[in-house]
Amino acid sequence: MNLEAIEKVYRRYAPSYDFYFGAVLQPGRRKVIERMNCRPGERILEVGVGTGLSLPLYPRNVHVTGIDVSREMLARAHDRVAAMHLDNVTLQCMDAESMTFPDDSFDKVVAMYVVSVVPSPGRLVAEMRRVCKPGASLYVVNHFRQSNPVVSMLERMMAPFSGLVGFHPDFSLEHFVEQTGFTAAENIPVNLFGYWTLLRSRNDKRG
Ligand SMILES: C[S@@+](CC[C@H](N)C(=O)[O-])C[C@H]1O[C@@H](n2cnc3c(N)ncnc32)[C@H](O)[C@@H]1O
Repeated sequence: MNLEAIEKVYRRYAPSYDFYFGAVLQPGRRKVIERMNCRPGERILEVGVGTGLSLPLYPRNVHVTGIDVSREMLARAHDRVAAMHLDNVTLQCMDAESMTFPDDSFDKVVAMYVVSVVPSPGRLVAEMRRVCKPGASLYVVNHFRQSNPVVSMLERMMAPFSGLVGFHPDFSLEHFVEQTGFTAAENIPVNLFGYWTLLRSRNDKRG
């Protein structure tokens, strides 16, 4: 999917996104924020923040920047931030594959349910690495293709409809690692039946 297609799908999803993808994916959001072990004063970047379902889960003593390309999804996130008085959150409309933040701007960077949506996971992860401090951690939560033959067949059957559903249902972890070089120091199953995966990688780049 290109950016235009993504914006179109998520414009359509925005009003009902929380109903369909709120509670069912919330354990994964909660788990990754728990694993991030945020320390007071840290600067956190969440790419593809969507309607901001994760935002109330961060400790209030860290500063969270959330970016997304969908203005309609972000509008919902803005409403949430205002309603819950989340003064520690800043939201911006920005392409996560081409961010305007300087290098090494953040202590931790996270992508929740985004890597199988973006046009180029390789560019996304390269940008996540660039804006994250060296030696810090990058986090990903996503659904990857299952080894269970029945589930995997269903995922392959849904693959041609990625433009409609807004993500690539048959996106494999091997493909993700190959495209991004994301070396996972942690790999934890999350959400219903453990069908989603939480990955953590150390941001190994020049100090
Ligand atoms: C499946 S939703 C996940 C939203 C949120 N992270 C959550 O936990 O519900 C994917 C989000 O990624 C956003 N997105 C897709 N491509 C993007 C890009 N290149 N830059 C920024 N956001 C992007 C979409 O607009 C959408 O809001």
